[in-house]
Amino acid sequence: MKFEEIYSIVGGVKYIKTKNSQFLYDFILKEKLTHILELGIAHGTATCYMAAALQELGKGSITAVDLLKNSFKPSAEEQLQRSGLSEIANVVRMQTSYTWFLHDDILRNTKDNTCNEIYDLCIIDGPKNWTIDGAAFFFADKLLKKNAWIIFDDYNWTYAAADNRRDITDGITHRLLSAEEKEIPHVRDIFELLVKQHPCYGNFMLLEDSGWALAQKIS
Ligand SMILES: C[S@@+](CC[C@H](N)C(=O)[O-])C[C@H]1O[C@@H](n2cnc3c(N)ncnc32)[C@H](O)[C@@H]1O
Repeated sequence: MKFEEIYSIVGGVKYIKTKNSQFLYDFILKEKLTHILELGIAHGTATCYMAAALQELGKGSITAVDLLKNSFKPSAEEQLQRSGLSEIANVVRMQTSYTWFLHDDILRNTKDNTCNEIYDLCIIDGPKNWTIDGAAFFFADKLLKKNAWIIFDDYNWTYAAADNRRDITDGITHRLLSAEEKEIPHVRDIFELLVKQHPCYGNFMLLEDSGWALAQKIS
């Protein structure tokens, strides 16, 4: 499905910016990223753009993971259905966190003490929390193939900035955090301190105005 077509169906739905959706769609086609893991899906808007790109490529699938209690309307399942792309994306809903999905996926793919690498792209767009998403990076890494890409959204996001709008973000109560934990962008530090220092990752890209940080598993 062409970008313009999927845009005409899901273009008005949160949370992905049009610029990022076009980038993601083109990136999947250019890099031929056929096996995709999406962590944090909300309405499944990004899921639909990625599924459209895979349909255009003629192969591939997405595993899209979020929480059971998430009640976004329209739901990811509804948007995929409306786009005619349900066959391409498998929506998985977990009780507590996508980190436990990663536990299950590592377990499923482990044989003789080795985890099989199965994904070409992992996009992390969940709670933006050092502990959860830092762990998710190391867990997801076990499942990423050589030359796979990892994308983080919300590079500059902070609890302090979100404080004006709400008291709790994805189960984390803001007032229980230290001043530093509130002020420092967790995703930025996951990217700078964990991803960039990891010996297997390179080709780092920061799309400042989109809030996206990308890295490739080069060895
Ligand atoms: C910003 S939204 C994702 C937007 C989506 N990627 C897009 O671009 O359309 C963040 C999502 O992460 C989910 N989420 C937050 N913490 C999570 C966790 N620990 N495990 C699974 N999903 C989580 C929320 O339920 C929410 O749907």
